[in-house]
Amino acid sequence: MQNFVFHNPTKILFGKNTIPSIGAETALLGKRVLFVYGSGSIKHNGLYDTVLQSLQSQGCIVTEHGGVQSNPLLSHAHAGIALAKKHDCDVVCAVGGGSVIDEAKAICAGALVQHDVWKFFTGKKSIKSILPLTTVLTLAASGSEMNSGMVLTNDATSQKFGFANKHLYPKTSILDPTVTCSVPPDYTAYGAIDAVAHVLEFYFTTKDPYTPVQDRLMEGLAINAMECCDAVLAAPDDYQKRAALMWTATLALNGLTNAGLGKIGVPMHMIEHSLSAFYNIPHGAGLAAVIPGWMKIHCIDQPERFSQFAERVFAIRDGSKEERAAKGVDALINWFTKVNAPTTLTALNIQEKDIPKIAENAMTLAKIWRMRDYSKERVESILLKCL
Ligand code: NZQ
Ligand code: ZN
Repeated sequence: MQNFVFHNPTKILFGKNTIPSIGAETALLGKRVLFVYGSGSIKHNGLYDTVLQSLQSQGCIVTEHGGVQSNPLLSHAHAGIALAKKHDCDVVCAVGGGSVIDEAKAICAGALVQHDVWKFFTGKKSIKSILPLTTVLTLAASGSEMNSGMVLTNDATSQKFGFANKHLYPKTSILDPTVTCSVPPDYTAYGAIDAVAHVLEFYFTTKDPYTPVQDRLMEGLAINAMECCDAVLAAPDDYQKRAALMWTATLALNGLTNAGLGKIGVPMHMIEHSLSAFYNIPHGAGLAAVIPGWMKIHCIDQPERFSQFAERVFAIRDGSKEERAAKGVDALINWFTKVNAPTTLTALNIQEKDIPKIAENAMTLAKIWRMRDYSKERVESILLKCL
């Protein structure tokens, strides 16, 4: 196990009837609030009224910035930054899934600088401070509610970039699993797949040979994400299962699982970001199409690690180490299929002729993320395996 610093400053309020606290939590940080939300789900499920009333009851002056789209766009974040500056907002409150929270983070960072916020994403500028952020999470998936990451698509260049910075943790996030009951089956599954993907990235890219605490944490989270997803697809209003899924997704990417793993990579995300940048597909759907190809190639090099995963997560005990490793990959693909996720590029209507373009685009992110062991040819060979 490697040395590490684990410091997660986000305060979490978890459970039923916690959302009316958003006004008080936000007012502790500022009174001129930019209220950021998505394309309408919070108006359908009543959350919009609850949040607005709670903010106003604390004397907050609220400016709204709605219409954040899934795979949020830089141009829309620019509009939010302009609004925050115009109204001299001193706090941002995001209500939605990872897309809304990520765009809100970009607004928090961009509101305090004169240059284009995109310069943070390309590494040309580094964040020194941001407006404080509170969130109400409505979808179990990204982990953005308790992490220091943000992802945005530059609609002018078709680049979907993300990065982490210690200033980007929300101050407070409210997680009431009840509101996730209205998430439709496809996005419920994509969210669970995203949580599993966050586990897989770290589990299979660590080079440290002895990480038993982290391994069992990650294996447990992967099992939980799949079991709870299955349960809520069968019974969408099952509060306990929604709650377990929500907390699983948060823990899968809040810095806990990778503490002690040393240098890790996120190659599947690197490739997926290139897919969703071009085709605007849901993040979890893109991951379900990329993961099989990546795993089929890498399980051959790392049979020990992959067979451990197969045995502990899918109870696969028959056959040689290599056979168990391959069966584990198949079991994961079967689960993706069971929850109706696309498991190939073809299922996403992406053709072989597009692979060079996708790989080229992924290379720009590989450079920023310093994943030097991923050449364009290597990414192309993975994508070919995903067809
Ligand atoms: O826009 P609204 O109307 O809210 O609808 C959303 C959207 O259509 C809907 N939804 C959310 N909560 C709902 C609901 N519908 C009904 N009831 C509810 N309670 O679900 C759709 C998807 O929402 P979105 O926020 O896009 O999903 P997700 O949370 O999966 O976020 C995806 C984004 O997060 C990024 C992804 O790349 C993608 O851009 N990621 C962010 C990360 C981070 N910040 O650390 C890490 C992740 O790996 C990921 O890259
Ligand atoms: Zn992800």
